[in-house]
Amino acid sequence: MNNATIKASRNGWYQVSGSFTLLDSAGKPYTTTGDIYLCRCGQSKNKPFCDSSHKAAGFESTVQAPPPPATP
Ligand code: FES
Repeated sequence: MNNATIKASRNGWYQVSGSFTLLDSAGKPYTTTGDIYLCRCGQSKNKPFCDSSHKAAGFESTVQAPPPPATP
């Protein structure tokens, strides 16, 4: 069973940790070991993986989950 955690970095990649399977567009699995870093800026030349091109591109994105709803 897959049990992954995905974390958006500040101005960069998505870090994927835990147990997961990454599939390409044809459904073929990538061989991965440990954490992987997925591009979310669209500039990587090694998609779906981050190659640090986000730095030269000046990609800026800080995402934050909304706070939990207030309890009455
Ligand atoms: S997030 Fe790093 S190259 Fe796109």
